[in-house]
Amino acid sequence: MRILVVGAGGREHALVRALARSPSTPELLCAPGNAGIAHDARLLAVGAGDVDGLVRAAREEAVDLVVVGPEAPLVAGLVDVLEEAGVAAFGPRAGPARLEGSKAHAKEVMAAAGVATPAHVTVTGVEEGMAAIGRYPVVLKADGLAAGKGVVIAEDEEAAGAALPALLEGHGTVVVEEHLEGEELSLLALCDGERALPMAPAQDYKRIFDGDRGPNTGGMGSYSPVPGVDAAQAERLCAQIHQPVVDHLRAAGTPFHGVLYAGLMLTAQGPRTLEFNVRFGDPETQAVLPRLTSDLADLCLRATRPGGLAGATLAFCEDTAVTLVLASAGYPVSSSSGKPIRGLADVPAGIELTHAGTEQRDGEVVTAGGRVLNVTGLGPRPSAARTAAYDAADRIHFEGVQLRRDIALRAEERAG
Ligand code: AMP
Ligand code: GLY
Repeated sequence: MRILVVGAGGREHALVRALARSPSTPELLCAPGNAGIAHDARLLAVGAGDVDGLVRAAREEAVDLVVVGPEAPLVAGLVDVLEEAGVAAFGPRAGPARLEGSKAHAKEVMAAAGVATPAHVTVTGVEEGMAAIGRYPVVLKADGLAAGKGVVIAEDEEAAGAALPALLEGHGTVVVEEHLEGEELSLLALCDGERALPMAPAQDYKRIFDGDRGPNTGGMGSYSPVPGVDAAQAERLCAQIHQPVVDHLRAAGTPFHGVLYAGLMLTAQGPRTLEFNVRFGDPETQAVLPRLTSDLADLCLRATRPGGLAGATLAFCEDTAVTLVLASAGYPVSSSSGKPIRGLADVPAGIELTHAGTEQRDGEVVTAGGRVLNVTGLGPRPSAARTAAYDAADRIHFEGVQLRRDIALRAEERAG
C-alpha cells in the first residue's frame, strides 16, 4: 500500500511514524514534509494548500490512500476533489469540515445533535456584541479558521471592547460565549460516516508559559492517557458527544469520515464541548499515536468507507506518553528561523523525536517556524515519561528555544 500524508508538522511526522508500524509495511510519501519526516517518508514538493497539485501528485504516484493532516485543505475541499478523482482520502469532505471551519455552524450542529456546549450568542456588530455580554470573564470566538488565535478570554469590559472589533473585522461573525471553569480534555474519535470510535484521551497545553500564562499557542505540549479518564469514560463521552454528531451529519447527507476531535471542558455540571476540530490534534497526536498498538493504516483506509470500521477496535498500550514542544524565539507572536539545531543525535533510543518547523540547509538541520520539534517520552507512569522527555529535550539546543517545564505535571501529581 502506498500512502501520502499531507502536511508539514509534528502531527504529520507522528502520523508517518505510526503508519510505518502497520503490518502491511506501507510505502510512505509526505507533501511537503520537513527535515525530520524526510528520514521516514519520501517527500513531494507540493504544499498542503495546493489542492490541484496534491491531486495530481496522488494520481501520478498511484497512491492508495491520502491522509490529510491540517484543517485548511479539508475545509477547502481536498477530500472532495481526491474522491472525485478516484483516490481514497482520510478526512472529512468540505461540508462536514465546516464543523471546524465555522464556530457558529458547529454550535448549530451541537444544538441539533443535543450536544452540551456553553451558552452563547452569535453577533455581527460591536454594539450587539457588547450588549450580549452578561458577565466577565467572557469568551469571544472568531467565526473561522484562525490557527488557534481566534479565541479571546476577556476579563473585563475594556478587554472585550478592545478585542471585539478586531475579531469582527477579520471574520464578520463572532460567537460570544459563557466562560466555564474546569479541566480541559481532548477526545478524538475515528469516524467512518456511521460510527465514532474513541481514541485515548489526551490533554494539551495551549498557553506559551508555565502555569498556563501568556498567550494561546498552537499547543506547547500534551500527554496521554489522562488520570481519572479511563477507557470506559472515553466510551461514554464519545457516545454522548461524537456519536450524536456523526448520526446527525449522516442524516443530513454529509457523513463524517476521518477524525472528529472534541475539545471538552469537564465542569461540575458535566462535560461541555468547547469546539470541534475535524482532524488529528497537534500536539495531542504526538502523545496518542505512539501508544496505539492497532494498525493505523488499516483503520484509516477502513474509515474512508461507509461503515468500514464495523468490528474494528482501537487499542493503546498502558504507558503514559508526554510530548514537549520546543518552540523558537518569539513564538507565538513571531517566530525566528534559520537557527542551527544541535544535539539531535544525542536523543536516546526510545524517545519519539518528531519534527515540526525544521529544514535541511547546507548540510545541517535548522529551525523553520514557530513550533520546531516535539520530544515524546514514554514510561509506565507519568513521572517516568516526564523524566525521559525532559532529559531528551535538554540535550537539544537552538538559539532562543522555548520549552514549558510543567507539561504533564498535573498527571504526575495525581498518578505519580
Ligand atoms: P477553542 O478554539 O474554542 O477550543 O478555544 C481555545 C481555548 O480557549 C480552549 O482550549 C480553552 O482553553 C479556551 N476556551 C474556549 N472556550 C471556553 C469557554 N467557554 N470557557 C473557558 N475557556 C474556554
Ligand atoms: N492542540 C489543539 C489543536 O490541535 O487544535
